[in-house]
Amino acid sequence: MITKNIIDIIHALDAGEVVGLPTETVYGLAANAFNEAAVNKIYKLKNRPFSNPLILHTHSIEEIKKYIHPNSRKLLEIGEDLWPGPLTIIFRKKDIIPGSITAGSKYVAFRIPNHPLILEVLRKVSYPIAAPSANPYQRISPTTSKQVYEYFGENIPYILEGGNCECGIESTIIGMENDEIIIYRQGSISLEQLKRKYQNVTLKKSAESKIKTSGMSKKHYAPNTKMILVDSIEEYVQNNKHQKIGILRFGKMNAKSIAKNYYKKLYELDKAGFDIIISEKFRNTGMGRALNDKLKRAITKNEKYN
Ligand code: TXA
Ligand code: MG
Repeated sequence: MITKNIIDIIHALDAGEVVGLPTETVYGLAANAFNEAAVNKIYKLKNRPFSNPLILHTHSIEEIKKYIHPNSRKLLEIGEDLWPGPLTIIFRKKDIIPGSITAGSKYVAFRIPNHPLILEVLRKVSYPIAAPSANPYQRISPTTSKQVYEYFGENIPYILEGGNCECGIESTIIGMENDEIIIYRQGSISLEQLKRKYQNVTLKKSAESKIKTSGMSKKHYAPNTKMILVDSIEEYVQNNKHQKIGILRFGKMNAKSIAKNYYKKLYELDKAGFDIIISEKFRNTGMGRALNDKLKRAITKNEKYN
């Protein structure tokens, strides 16, 4: 059920249950990261392959230091700059982090989210919280408690009501390779934003990377309805009058507001029973670039992106 009661949420987490929690990016499906049975439940609920590791959430850098390789200073400085916030950093892990969370990898992903309710939960529990986005594998990430409920219903005891997510798309995932900051998944902090602050920021394609994230896989964040990208929405509608067409369009909104509404709108279009969903590409700068990356993975088949 959807609740506002944080005490119930903490009791459920302590008891090894999985709950839905709000963050500023998207809702997460959360469990005690050190309870293997609870973590297994997350994988089962999401139908997610065990080869795909989970992000750990905590409330402070001091906390993170307990779990990562001591030689992580440069990455921690970025964390100090941008946390709490929509950034996930991949560190070399210490042995106390179980391989079951990292899919056997020597690296672990950490994030300090910027939402008052999850921060309150994180301060009150004694362990990091593992939380992937609260959607079934490869489906659209949820930005409202209702959407989490529609996905998982009573299969999880609680979803903490935290309103509409402020960012609306996932955190940006970064790491460091040979003194370069690598973006492994585009998200709520744009490439430009990072480049303004730091030198040597590179976007990485999965093929060239030793670290793989599922945000790199070709199909992801996708609706069930067939979806394509078009050059002109008007032209497509004109030429396909026999089809029931869902249009993903945001008018004159800026890219940040589009991001806030992107998954929500896509989810609503997906539920409305159209034959096809169409979208034009966004302007490819700032948050628009991250949105284009999400679009590319949402479409069913597109000549341009083969
Ligand atoms: O905004 C977000 O990051 C949300 C909220 C709930 O915090 N979480 C989220 O988690 O998007 P998820 O599991 O849907 O996506 C996490 C990504 C996956 O692509 C996973 O492969 C990657 O992070 N990842 C996690 N741990 C990793 C690791 N140790 N090494 C490489 N990639 C990792
Ligand atoms: Mg996800």
